[in-house]
Amino acid sequence: CGIVGYLGQKNTKEILLEGLKELEYRGYDSAGIAVLQNGNFSNYKAVGKLVNLKEKTKDFKTEGFALGIGHTRWATHGKPTELNAHPHLGESSYVVHNGIIENYVELKKELQANGARFLSQTDTEVIVHQFEKNQKSAKNSFEAFAKTVSELQGAYAILLVTKNEPDRIFFAKYGSPMLIGINKENEKYFASSDTPLIGHCQSVNYFEDGDYGYATSKEIAVFNKDGAKKELKFSALSQNKLLAQKDGYRFFMEKEIYEQSVVISDTLMGRLGENEIIFDELDKTLFDGINEIKLCACGTSYHAAMSASYLFERYSKIKTSLEIASEFRYREPIMTKDTLFVVISQSGETADTLETLKMAKAANLKTLAICNVDNSSMVRLADATILTRAGIEKGVASTKAFATQVSVFWMLSLYIAKRKNSLNAQEIASHISLLREVPSHIKVTDAMHERIKRLSKRYLHGHGFFFIGRDIFYPLALEGALKLKEISYLHAEGYPAGEMKHGPIALADPELFTIALLPKHLHYEKSKSNVEELSARDSTICAISQSEFDKADDFIQISSCEHYMLEFFEMMVVLQLLSLEISIRLGNDVDMPRNLAKSVTVE
Ligand code: G6P
Repeated sequence: CGIVGYLGQKNTKEILLEGLKELEYRGYDSAGIAVLQNGNFSNYKAVGKLVNLKEKTKDFKTEGFALGIGHTRWATHGKPTELNAHPHLGESSYVVHNGIIENYVELKKELQANGARFLSQTDTEVIVHQFEKNQKSAKNSFEAFAKTVSELQGAYAILLVTKNEPDRIFFAKYGSPMLIGINKENEKYFASSDTPLIGHCQSVNYFEDGDYGYATSKEIAVFNKDGAKKELKFSALSQNKLLAQKDGYRFFMEKEIYEQSVVISDTLMGRLGENEIIFDELDKTLFDGINEIKLCACGTSYHAAMSASYLFERYSKIKTSLEIASEFRYREPIMTKDTLFVVISQSGETADTLETLKMAKAANLKTLAICNVDNSSMVRLADATILTRAGIEKGVASTKAFATQVSVFWMLSLYIAKRKNSLNAQEIASHISLLREVPSHIKVTDAMHERIKRLSKRYLHGHGFFFIGRDIFYPLALEGALKLKEISYLHAEGYPAGEMKHGPIALADPELFTIALLPKHLHYEKSKSNVEELSARDSTICAISQSEFDKADDFIQISSCEHYMLEFFEMMVVLQLLSLEISIRLGNDVDMPRNLAKSVTVE
């Protein structure tokens, strides 16, 4: 999602719409603006791309001093409808918000019990109602706003305007980015990234977590999370748009790796019950009469599907088979009605995968799409859909989409387990608490990134890479090898660790690089002995594990965790960063590697 805000004498409407245009790549399910001028609000919202909002506002004019807020949305909670589009209205205030209000259910219940009327299904709407409730007992709107912010849990970048104080925009930031820009004309610009500010402001301040306050034409008052007033730190704004869109990261892929913690939180949002998984989007009867799941995909999505096959058989006790879409299409497969046919696709447009979905439909199978793009061809065609909520992925080498796909599959395995009684409530509950830990385990730390950056120097040549792992770490090994191939153009293969001795070990020498996945909580001893076999034959070993492995030439330590799925996500980040750094050292275009396309809509 993207946020903009403006306070000044210029054409407020145009400035908001232009700003949203810069942020549109972050989501275009719906967009909206609210403008406060001469004591009156004007509010416009439209579903779909920004052109629709433009069309709706074509007769709306702003002149002289006005303040406004705007938002472009990538639906995470609540369908992409006009009612769910921001800004959200209370009685006399509007709010826009990026992030997730984790305690919105409790707040909403309390507000509703006190008579608040909710129009949307979003978590955002509680902010404005909570604010208006607090206004009744507070000295002024700022006190009410500060109280509201202190009552919110989760991540947010918030802009709020209220009729009671029509000269100011209230703001708060925690966990979601937001900045303010200023210029000599006393205008104030807000946005969730700096691109909309380019050309308008010379200097900007990036808010820190816990910052909140208000801005008028004359002043900007900012307080930290302890309520103490603080000084803003303005820096010069780079005038390079492409750089700005990357929020200072060198490549979109890098930015997307860093974003994974946030997008996984989005993916989990509203889906984790106490001892069950909630997929409101699925019909309760979807799994009735189903004895087999068939997963079909291409590329990275295929690797996510392969991970799912381990989870489904292990936890849901349901027979699961796996298909590469381009193979399935032409091999005259047998399709039986007790099979649920599942396609996995970031884009929802990959031609081969889409075609297999059509085949399954024609054979009258029940179908489910796991997809990142709402309204894509697969979503429109499948009987049911679970959206992965990774946000727009720009890097051709998929990272955050994969992370969210695996998270959805983990949840789905528990959802089915409950229906099939293959796990009890307590077991499901303990998985759910592990799922809640994923976002913190995939945060990239400076120390980790630095280590990988330094270590990548050793891996720029050689006659090949083997990424090896067992069980669900085998598809992760395949994905690690694919990442490396895609952006470094070095030859890499993913292999089941136990299978190396049946042929590939013949390649072992110091110029053969083995990237070994050694999870402590899944077949550790077995995997270790496979790595020892390679090390004994002089292959250069880079081990990724929780605890030191003495046979390794390089060792990348992941943080300690108590379950193999957390190790899975930690190692996933390591593999992504390793490919990224190797590719950068080789001087390649990380985001647009040669010969590849983000979405392959041809056979
Ligand atoms: C292309 C991309 C891959 C992607 C694959 C499947 O080959 O370069 O990164 O994994 O398509 O795409 P999908 O959108 O169906 O997940």
